[in-house]
Amino acid sequence: MEKWELFLAPYEQVVTEMKIKLKGIRKQFTDKNEHSPIEFVTGRVKPIDSIKTKSRLKGIPLDNLEEEMQDIAGLRVTCQFVEDIYEVVNLIKSRNDLTVIQDRDYLSHEKESGYRSYHLIIEYPIQLVTGEKKLYAEIQIRTLAMNFWATIEHSLNYKYQGEFPEEINKRLIRASEAANLLDEEMSKIREEIQEAQQLFSH
Ligand code: GTP
Ligand code: MG
Repeated sequence: MEKWELFLAPYEQVVTEMKIKLKGIRKQFTDKNEHSPIEFVTGRVKPIDSIKTKSRLKGIPLDNLEEEMQDIAGLRVTCQFVEDIYEVVNLIKSRNDLTVIQDRDYLSHEKESGYRSYHLIIEYPIQLVTGEKKLYAEIQIRTLAMNFWATIEHSLNYKYQGEFPEEINKRLIRASEAANLLDEEMSKIREEIQEAQQLFSH
């Protein structure tokens, strides 16, 4: 194997293991016919080209990646409701097989672009034949609506390759507000349905 592949192999292991564990959370809820706070899970190891570009942009020396680039292993958890996000955050924070070392709440503090999500940086120990190795990973937790917005905004940004004109930025922010309203409305609808069900069950 060449140098990059050897460097990235342990990160592949982090992503594989964390995907299984997060999907395991979902299964425990659906097995009991309960609402799962996790709708689906995806994961990726950052492509080599993106690692190189980011290290150049952020001035991170290539031999310091392990310490300074904390999103080489990335997991994404998508939820139905905003409330689910906090439940997932608490479930992850209460685990004994990883340590949350940083959280970034872009829900109550959305980014200027209109981006909303909850980010956790974790330290995850993997067992190698050479012993235990702790690696960082980034978990992004967001609703389907936030994921819809972020996925398309990211692909537009990529195609545009640079700064959007101010007019486009404004429209993207408005689109993000629309996604936000959709989330709020779905939560309200769910709440009203639950209240109605409680009335009937008495
Ligand atoms: P990075 O260099 O991206 O790691 O910046 P950072 O260390 O300040 O982290 P931040 O929490 O801002 O963003 C980490 C990740 O969140 C990014 O790699 C994206 O996946 C996602 N993200 C952040 N801002 C945006 C945004 O405006 N649009 C989209 N689509 N994704 C975003
Ligand atoms: Mg980051």
